Amino acid sequence: MLKFILNNEDVGTSLPPGMPLLDFIRYHQQLTGTKTGCNEGDCGACTILAGELQRGKLVYRSFTSCLMPLGNAHGKHIVTIEGINMLPALNPIQQSMVDNAATQCGFCTPGFVMSLAGFCLSTQPPTTENAITAIDGNICRCTGYKSIERAAAGVATLLAQRNQEEPAQFAAEQQILPAYFAGIKERLKRLILFLNGELAPPSGTTPRFMGGGTDLYVQQPEEIQEQPLQFLFNQDILKGITREDNRCVIGAACTVSDLLASPVMQAYFPALGNYISLISSTPIRNMATIAGNFVNASPIGDLTIFFLALEATLELSDGTATRTLPLRQLYKDYKKLDKRPEEYITRCWFELPGASTSFHFEKVSKRTNLDIASVNTAICITMQENLISTVRISAGGVGPIPTLLTDTAAFLEGKAPSGAVIKVACAIAQAEITPISDARGTAVYKRLLLEQLIKAHFITLFPSLKVELLL
Ligand SMILES: Cc1cc2nc3c(=O)[nH]c(=O)nc-3n(C[C@H](O)[C@H](O)[C@H](O)COP(=O)(O)OP(=O)(O)OC[C@H]3O[C@@H](n4cnc5c(N)ncnc54)[C@H](O)[C@@H]3O)c2cc1C
Ligand code: FES
Ligand code: FES
Repeated sequence: MLKFILNNEDVGTSLPPGMPLLDFIRYHQQLTGTKTGCNEGDCGACTILAGELQRGKLVYRSFTSCLMPLGNAHGKHIVTIEGINMLPALNPIQQSMVDNAATQCGFCTPGFVMSLAGFCLSTQPPTTENAITAIDGNICRCTGYKSIERAAAGVATLLAQRNQEEPAQFAAEQQILPAYFAGIKERLKRLILFLNGELAPPSGTTPRFMGGGTDLYVQQPEEIQEQPLQFLFNQDILKGITREDNRCVIGAACTVSDLLASPVMQAYFPALGNYISLISSTPIRNMATIAGNFVNASPIGDLTIFFLALEATLELSDGTATRTLPLRQLYKDYKKLDKRPEEYITRCWFELPGASTSFHFEKVSKRTNLDIASVNTAICITMQENLISTVRISAGGVGPIPTLLTDTAAFLEGKAPSGAVIKVACAIAQAEITPISDARGTAVYKRLLLEQLIKAHFITLFPSLKVELLL
């Protein structure tokens, strides 16, 4: 039986764990304040919060419940719009929306309010900018965004005196959220003491692995609910980002948000925040796992392209034996992997860049935010005495699989970067790719994009090349 806290109630259910949480909330709990919009993670109308204990701390994150399996709610505090009501009055977040005329038809409003409630429960510095970032996954079709941004700014001012250690306690004490939030940490501690093996798939089956569900529910919304599932998202053993000697080791169930929050990743990738702002939206980043991105095998998977350039290695397990595999060898052909159905990724690692190694990631999509790439690429380059000693350039959207430009790298190694050298490298790259025309652009456009993005890598890492490369 799945057990979790739903708003202020303890719930247990034997409904299928592959059911979307949104269906459970609306059709089995009659909590209809959470809205169904796109059902694909794009609009944010279905936003809920999930709170869990992480190393003794109560951490809340916003999720899109249309893509969240009920099984991933197990052991958590799930908060819907009904759970933050403070009737008969509005809570201060709702009041800020009213005061700033930030709602018209109201369909999107519960989603915006939940994202802002998530901001109140986070440890983010309470700036207007951070409050606005918290609503980056919510779309409104009829109110002007400026009034919603003003409402978000109003919420940030409520948090000026916040204790970053215990944001839920602060929100309850300041009557920003209902008083019951102050007791959730202790209730979750008691709840997880009694959880055990409820999510094991039926024996004798080869289950489908479920990470955050952000690809599976979009691609196979019906089928996935019928299949035996192995839930990996909550498994502690698949979590954590650590430095081990000169390697960074990342658990397979780490999310994009976990990467962004990791002190190790922040220390070695100073522009990480810029790169990750190009990937989906806050609620999707909170759910999207790194292994899900690798195994989905999209030729434009952003994390795949990022970690290909870092020459990441995977560890795979079938439950009894483990093996290692370079990420670049996982991809055989379009969506064909060197992986047996019973194998799952447990973790991956890469060598941390030294002082003479630089990294950069570029992505172009039709919209800057919340869009998948037309073309994306990453570079990891090591210099020795002004010469390129090693370089790896990955490229997505230019072939059936995420690609490493090996001929281009071989040409560059041993050379000093100059405008002329980079232009020849771009020409070699053209011979390594086979883009097709599709909804994200024509083949000709994608070829041009890759050329420009390779130049952008070098202009970013070697600014003195700018004039030569722009000529
Ligand atoms: C609105 C929206 C925006 C998005 N934007 C982007 C974007 O900007 N960039 C981008 O790259 N992607 C984007 N995505 C795609 C998606 O979020 C990512 O690919 C994500 O990393 C998938 O992870 P997941 O845990 O949700 O995968 P799931 O949907 O849970 O699983 C995906 C696949 O991986 C398998 N799997 C999961 N974990 C494991 C494991 N440990 N071992 C073996 N197999 C496993 C599953 O069986 C399934 O085949 C977006 C998705 C949505 C809905
Ligand atoms: S219904 Fe649109 S994000 Fe879930
Ligand atoms: S108020 Fe109508 S969609 Fe936002």
